[in-house]
Amino acid sequence: MNILVLNGPNLNLLGTREPAVYGHATLADVEALCHSAAAERGAEVECRQSNHEGVLIDWVHAAGAAHRAGLLAGIVFNAGAYTHTSVALHDAIKGSGLPVIEVHISNVHAREAFRHHSWLSPVAAGIVVGFGIDGYVLAIDGLLRKARAAAG
Ligand code: DQA
Repeated sequence: MNILVLNGPNLNLLGTREPAVYGHATLADVEALCHSAAAERGAEVECRQSNHEGVLIDWVHAAGAAHRAGLLAGIVFNAGAYTHTSVALHDAIKGSGLPVIEVHISNVHAREAFRHHSWLSPVAAGIVVGFGIDGYVLAIDGLLRKARAAAG
């Protein structure tokens, strides 16, 4: 099974960005963790990062087509700050009709009020918050469990 791991704006700065909040692991470390978590579970991931909302939307649309073709289980998605602002990403996920697991490294609910609302949560198949970068592993595991249960 294949999974797309998407990271949104500023997540390319992991490792140097607010380490007290996000830790010291880099995006490359996160991607390596995702590759090994998927491999341990008999799956494969492709990892991408963009700081641009439209690029993320295009990738969600393409992922929807791959899902319909039976080529992709779904997306593990840390949309960064677009989580809290992007009706367009909400619509893209809804319109693409594929399972998306929303991930946040930090516990957004324990932070500023503007991080408490997510436009992704209402259209997410599951949500993982506050486990640090292990959240990506939990999300991969959860997405695979859902996909395998759906396949019977
Ligand atoms: C984040 C939380 C968001 O509020 C923030 O804008 C990010 C990272 C997280 O992983 O904890 O960029 O998604």
